[in-house]
Amino acid sequence: MSLPPVYEVAGPSTDPRAKDKVVIITGANSALGIGRATARQFAQNGARAVYLCDFAIDNLDAQKGELTGLFPAVDVLVRKFDAADEAAVRDVIADALRAYGRLDVFFANAGILGPQSVFSKVDSAGFMETMRVNALGPFLATKYAAPAMQITGGTKKTPGGSIILTASVAGLRSNAGSTPYSASKAAVISLAQTLSYQLVGTGVRVNAVCPGLIETGMTSAMYEAARARGTTSKIGQLNPTRRGGNSDEIARVVLFLGSDDASYVNGQAWAVDGGLSAGHPFVPGKLS
Ligand SMILES: NC(=O)c1ccc[n+]([C@@H]2O[C@H](COP(=O)([O-])OP(=O)(O)OC[C@H]3O[C@@H](n4cnc5c(N)ncnc54)[C@H](O)[C@@H]3O)[C@@H](O)[C@H]2O)c1
Repeated sequence: MSLPPVYEVAGPSTDPRAKDKVVIITGANSALGIGRATARQFAQNGARAVYLCDFAIDNLDAQKGELTGLFPAVDVLVRKFDAADEAAVRDVIADALRAYGRLDVFFANAGILGPQSVFSKVDSAGFMETMRVNALGPFLATKYAAPAMQITGGTKKTPGGSIILTASVAGLRSNAGSTPYSASKAAVISLAQTLSYQLVGTGVRVNAVCPGLIETGMTSAMYEAARARGTTSKIGQLNPTRRGGNSDEIARVVLFLGSDDASYVNGQAWAVDGGLSAGHPFVPGKLS
């Protein structure tokens, strides 16, 4: 009996997943950060160009040297700007179109913790700055990236692309961050939901990734304090994987979402949290 061929939506999944793609990543400067780890995944997977963007730039040239040494076929470009500055976001996208004639992936990842205090002590400026960086930044990224992704030509035959917005498990429910931070990340999830529908039929997908506790620049003080106290085994004890996560574990999911392998994933909030958001609060050990 002869079987009909399996209909495949993309090239072999063993091939580099980002071949020919032009990728912009914000929040890429941090040495331990999710942005840096993701840039490495896209470069390793055959991207044509990777833009490393951040308002802090002390690590970006070193990262560029590292990536071009490891993956010489990839153009690595460094850009310094505030991810919530509308003109700057518009300009980096225009720059990518001028240089490469295409844009395929925008990872809107820059984020801040904002004020770390009880809500009654948070002032308006602190609240709004958290919203500005964490929510307006991803909104602006989508506003300018989505039309750019619909431009075809050269090696790009089909309009479309993938926008990935960094939210957080804090945007799903309480107890993973301050009120301004959590509200800003809930807004990011809503952006992925509403923008994916605004972009109906364009080939542009918008998804949010929701990391749990990851060791990065943002959480390093907490990790260092736990190391000093000898309590690192308690980090991540409330998730069923029983540990904190690594930036590379987020980066590999972002690579997938950015690739054609994820062509039917749209408008979603993907928790990458060791299972934390899968459960109700529990007493460690009680049910095991
Ligand atoms: N680390 C975690 O546990 C965790 C959990 C959930 C979500 N996140 C989110 O992941 C994203 C990446 O953070 P990270 O954990 O890698 O932290 P990080 O502090 O290591 O990296 C964040 C980067 O964003 C940059 N940045 C901040 N504001 C910016 C702005 N206005 N313009 C341009 N760049 C800016 C910083 O300079 C830094 O390089 C953030 O959106 C964060 O909220 C982190």
